[in-house]
Amino acid sequence: MLQVWTEKYRPKKLDEIIGQEKTVKRLKGFVEKESIPNLLFAGMQGTGKTTAAHASVKELDLKNNFIELNASDERGIDTIRVKIKEFARTRPMGDAEFKIILLDEADALTKDAQQALRRTMEKYSKTCRFILDCNYSSKIIEPIQSRCVMFRFKPLGEKDVKKYLERIAKGEQLKLDEKASESIFKECGGDLRKATNILQAAASIDKNIIEDVILEVIGKAKTKDIQELLNLALEGKFLKAREKLFDLMITQGVSAEDLLKQIYSGIYDLDISDDNKIKIIKLLGDYEFRVVEGSNPMIQLEAFLANLKE
Ligand SMILES: Nc1ncnc2c1ncn2[C@@H]1O[C@H](COP(=O)(O)OP(=O)(O)O)[C@@H](O)[C@H]1O
Ligand SMILES: [Mg+2]
Repeated sequence: MLQVWTEKYRPKKLDEIIGQEKTVKRLKGFVEKESIPNLLFAGMQGTGKTTAAHASVKELDLKNNFIELNASDERGIDTIRVKIKEFARTRPMGDAEFKIILLDEADALTKDAQQALRRTMEKYSKTCRFILDCNYSSKIIEPIQSRCVMFRFKPLGEKDVKKYLERIAKGEQLKLDEKASESIFKECGGDLRKATNILQAAASIDKNIIEDVILEVIGKAKTKDIQELLNLALEGKFLKAREKLFDLMITQGVSAEDLLKQIYSGIYDLDISDDNKIKIIKLLGDYEFRVVEGSNPMIQLEAFLANLKE
């Protein structure tokens, strides 16, 4: 059976969580005392919020005294409210002192729904602790914020993302090239869920993961194709350059936006003088502006290429 790597490699213990050192340390303090307050986990997706909540529950040995709900549940806020009440109103099982309700995407709740949640939190404060996950703490009403201890989860840095990818690569017996790892980091922006999904998609194409495999997965042009495109245009072989452009945009489906960015970074690698690089960058800037303003990207990119020759 195909296992999703975001689950397979999800840390089971707080100690295994990458980055987030301060957050994890504070959280461990609560867990060791076997007493946690209501918690508010804030940060972008894929930074370890759900992982930290699960690991805490496991270390608190709460077993059945735990449920996980998603606030953006399509069945509506009433379903969530009923579920919370049903779960919260009975005493914790075994000798546990409290139950834990993990509410994912809490910032998806309307202000009214949050008011209702606040009343529920108050009503069951003796037997229940809430862990609220959200992207933006500013979207959580103040009365809830003041009932919670807040933890901020930061986007993971390059070293941490690479370390995590290495761990998976080892577990899956993949060869992961340094450049490939770097391009995953650039694309994921510190979101480990996204990073893991890109790696899994790449591995389904090739176990030997080089940069090109990643670029293919994320729908970007290969570095050498960009160089070829620019060189053809610089040499005045406009029709060939145009063919290459069509191949990239139409056959390979690279978006104009990505292509402009890739051309921008590709210019630095060209074997031309710095003065020429500057000229080309200025030119690209003009065309990029027109695309942003709404001009046809294909025509603008063609015109850019046509203007490259001295
Ligand atoms: N700080 C982290 N340390 C280790 N793994 C992480 C971390 N952050 C995210 N992940 C990984 O990314 C995936 C999503 O993590 P999750 O905790 O669900 O993110 P969030 O709840 O912040 O959106 C999981 O596979 C998890 O293993
Ligand atoms: Mg989550």
